Amino acid sequence: MSTVSYDLLVIGGGPGGYVAAIRAAQLGLKTACIELAPTLGGTCLNVGCIPSKALLESSHHFWRAQYEFAEHGITCGKIQLDLERMLHRKDEVVKGITAGIAFLFQKNKVDWIRGTGSLVEAGVVEVQPPSGAPMRYHARQILLATGSRPIEIPIAKFDHTHIVNSTDALQFTQVPKHLIVIGGGVIGLELGSVWGRLGAKVTVVEALDGILGVTDTQTASFLQKQLLKQGMTFHLATKLEQATVKGNTVIARCKKGTESIEIEGDKLLVAVGRRAYTHGLGLDKLGIALDPAGRIPVDAHFATAVPGVFAIGDVIAGPMLAHKAEEEGVAVAEFLAGKNGHVNYEALPSIIYTWPEVATVGKSEEQLKKEGIPYRVGKFYFKANGRAKAMGDAEGVAKLLAHRDTDRLLGAHLVGPWASEMIAEIAMAFEFGASAEDVARAVHAHPTLAEIWKEAALAVDQRSLHS
Ligand code: NAI
Repeated sequence: MSTVSYDLLVIGGGPGGYVAAIRAAQLGLKTACIELAPTLGGTCLNVGCIPSKALLESSHHFWRAQYEFAEHGITCGKIQLDLERMLHRKDEVVKGITAGIAFLFQKNKVDWIRGTGSLVEAGVVEVQPPSGAPMRYHARQILLATGSRPIEIPIAKFDHTHIVNSTDALQFTQVPKHLIVIGGGVIGLELGSVWGRLGAKVTVVEALDGILGVTDTQTASFLQKQLLKQGMTFHLATKLEQATVKGNTVIARCKKGTESIEIEGDKLLVAVGRRAYTHGLGLDKLGIALDPAGRIPVDAHFATAVPGVFAIGDVIAGPMLAHKAEEEGVAVAEFLAGKNGHVNYEALPSIIYTWPEVATVGKSEEQLKKEGIPYRVGKFYFKANGRAKAMGDAEGVAKLLAHRDTDRLLGAHLVGPWASEMIAEIAMAFEFGASAEDVARAVHAHPTLAEIWKEAALAVDQRSLHS
């Protein structure tokens, strides 16, 4: 039994857990973070956001060199792919960033306890280190931040060679000839884009009749058209029935209405969502029951049903986004230190890092209609923006939704180059409760992509200047 006692023990070192630990330490709580993996940062830094963005960046360069440089008057010889180097670069990016978190722990005096943590009782966690006997630690408060794992479906069990999950698809050592993607959601489209740009044929099978689930329909279908132009194939309203591996071929038997379709490829990526990861946490011992989706129920202060035990991030309800988990991590640390934590879920941006990128904040038109909220729409196309034209990257559209009577911003939906960066302006505007008129009156430097927001805001009042 360890004699060390903490104010806060965090289980899980992903963006939720490590940020909570740092914030708690900043506020004077004696804090430790339990993480089994050899590097901190969880899914996002190790096998999610960061490595996928590294590959998206590299593959975008490869694509541009082949198809877009010539238009700028740059003639290259034969463009060749050095996949080994590309993957190595991605690994180095991950290494650097995860090492950075270990440094931040040292700087903030957060103890990193390596091992798997499970609850023994309120205030006591047992940790099984990678080798040796388990140890017990005491804490006034415990925070569960164990994240999520890819969903595995019985009709396409991972063999991690032919039928793969997102982690496997970050480390193919050869470009697949034909990558079949089950699920036209965020992961399917991002990783499909990576391998498509590097030369794979990519076929997306999506059960719903559109890609990207709850994303604003017009925005999602604009993206789909762009991905079609890039060579991606889509089977919408099509469900996988069974995946079978024969030698080096994987066969996806699918159903579209009454029609049966068979698709043959060499890799099949299953990207049908992620599930909260609570395995081995000992929740049942403490009497913490999960909700029907397998998540830990919490109150507005992230407290579970057991006093002294809290939970944040993918393991609780809400979108599975690193920045959502981070904000919750900060908020819970502040609550535990006797301050007022706060997460503004209304202003939570969401991004899909395809090219063009998709970024949204607030409600979609479909949601506003459903909720009976009266609204006005302002749209502006990248084609009419000087900077986008100069970049030679002018496919995209911005849409702002504002309340019909108060003009307060309700939603922003953007598909276009650097949408990921542009959405920050509107997320900030949401924080300040801005109106479309506020955005329209703010000076936007010329020529910038951000002017698109100004024009979309003017368009809400039908006085756009450049369209
Ligand atoms: P997702 O929920 O975004 O998409 C899964 C899709 O699979 C859905 O459209 C669903 O209709 C479809 N599907 C389910 N079963 C099917 C079947 N049998 N046949 C055909 N289609 C089927 O899930 P995804 O892409 O796996 O991502 C998981 C989570 O990770 C998401 O919640 C996402 O927010 C998060 N994530 C976020 C990223 C970002 O912010 N850029 C990047 C990657 C992941």
